[in-house]
Amino acid sequence: MTPERMADIHAAAFTSQRPWAADEFRTLLATPHIFEITRGSSCFALGRIVAGEAELLTIATHPKAQRQGLARNCMDGFIRHVAETDGKRVLLEVDALNDPAIALYHQFGFAESGRRTGYYRHPDGRRVDALLMALDCGN
Ligand SMILES: CC(C)(COP(=O)(O)OP(=O)(O)OC[C@H]1O[C@@H](n2cnc3c(N)ncnc32)[C@H](O)[C@@H]1OP(=O)(O)O)[C@@H](O)C(=O)NCCC(=O)NCCS
Repeated sequence: MTPERMADIHAAAFTSQRPWAADEFRTLLATPHIFEITRGSSCFALGRIVAGEAELLTIATHPKAQRQGLARNCMDGFIRHVAETDGKRVLLEVDALNDPAIALYHQFGFAESGRRTGYYRHPDGRRVDALLMALDCGN
């Protein structure tokens, strides 16, 4: 998937976060230890894996293609990739008010491992906690 398409999806999907520009995706994709998992032309995830520990940097489905199982499929591919590259854990950070994403992560067995109070600032000025979540891949 091109960095431009990632930027389009990201801007359309995230309503409470600054959109990431195509150049930011291009730079990330050229960074060591970064990997992408895509599903069709409407869903992608970016991760980083170092020394057995993976981080989900972002996952998004274009609003026109949501609720069709794309993110579930993409997360499945993400976790499989981590396990195949000897990853032991996946960590992520999510806005505590992001119910769709939290439900998705719970489906895969992620559990809350911490919380950063007031970490995100919403466009309306509200401060919202970041939940830290972790999944043991059992390798
Ligand atoms: C979170 C997101 C990636 C889900 O993408 P999706 O392709 O629509 O998700 P799927 O259709 O694969 O759904 C998988 C599961 O996610 C959860 N889910 C997805 N959308 C949901 C919603 N609107 N409300 C509640 N749960 C939801 C459900 O558990 C769902 O399983 P179910 O269909 O059995 O109920 C998508 O809503 C999105 O891009 N959101 C904006 C970006 C974002 O917040 N990313 C995560 C933070 S980094």
